[in-house]
Amino acid sequence: MTVRVAPLKLVRRPRRLRRSAALRQLVSETVIEPHRLVPPLFVVSGAGETQPIASLPGVDRLSVDRLLPRLEHLLKLGIRAALLFGVVAPGTKSACAATAFDPEGPVPRALRAARSHFGDDLVLITDVCLCAYTDHGHCGLLAETPWGVQVDNDSSLEPLARMALAHARAGADLVAPSDMMDGRVAAIRRALDSGGFEGVGILSYAVKYASAFYGPFRAASASAPKGASLLQDRTSYQLDPRNAREGLLEAALDEAEGADVLMVKPALPYLDILARLRARSGLPLAAYQVSGEYAMLKAAAAVGALDEPAAVREALLSIRRAGTDLIFSYYAAEVIEKGWLM
Ligand code: PBG
Repeated sequence: MTVRVAPLKLVRRPRRLRRSAALRQLVSETVIEPHRLVPPLFVVSGAGETQPIASLPGVDRLSVDRLLPRLEHLLKLGIRAALLFGVVAPGTKSACAATAFDPEGPVPRALRAARSHFGDDLVLITDVCLCAYTDHGHCGLLAETPWGVQVDNDSSLEPLARMALAHARAGADLVAPSDMMDGRVAAIRRALDSGGFEGVGILSYAVKYASAFYGPFRAASASAPKGASLLQDRTSYQLDPRNAREGLLEAALDEAEGADVLMVKPALPYLDILARLRARSGLPLAAYQVSGEYAMLKAAAAVGALDEPAAVREALLSIRRAGTDLIFSYYAAEVIEKGWLM
């Protein structure tokens, strides 16, 4: 028996507008301009250093002299900002993270050089966190507490504020605290203001989850946490992936403490948080496509499991569609160079 299906008579047929590339572009809702992309860059001391990072194919640790031509290239691509991470020798790390606020450290040196080279053409953003400078790899200082040795919130605020101030003095436009200590945005704001840097902004990693997707980054900056029990990972200070409301609460607190830009991190697994935050805050938002998100795409592409340009474009568009203004991504330069966003 044949079944007859009556032809559909729809008033609205969305497919009409998908027939050609020109029609699709005409009604497209989301676009990523180069100035929304911010590449994270790793800076080391010394000269002539271009150190490939095994866990992040295509990303290098650069000494300041190698960083400047890289920044020049990024500007030519239409990129307007860079996020700087310092990587220091293991022998210089300590329990008190003194090298984090050393004015001769790789990040302050890079800031001074980039500022004198590029003036105000390039927005210089710096990661503010102790984990790459402490010998135990935690984002704050350790202290004896009633529950044993823990990452101590309040005593960590002073070195974080000192680090932010060192970056402001060296020329940072925005400091980006990523440590997840409570009250650090207020502490940094106070330190910047009393140091005469009212004009330096705070881009807070406000909603930062305790994520497995940071793995390749920790290999790049040798900042994996070390310790037993509560100190073996960052779950005692970064957000629990099970919690959404708590993420929104973190964002509201950072906004109240004076953050100028709020970030959600990682990006793709947390688009629900991003979209909800977009509806709640009037501040500019940022999302960080983190090292593991990048490495995952690179690894899948390397074995031919994914069409890299299409997959990367889709991931970045999804992050932008969810409501972010800025996207921090290790793909920033590559997608523009290769025209993957077209
Ligand atoms: C420092 C910091 C981390 C990242 C950015 N800032 C690592 C961490 O929290 O362990 C991760 C960035 C990435 O994975 O690309 N706290």
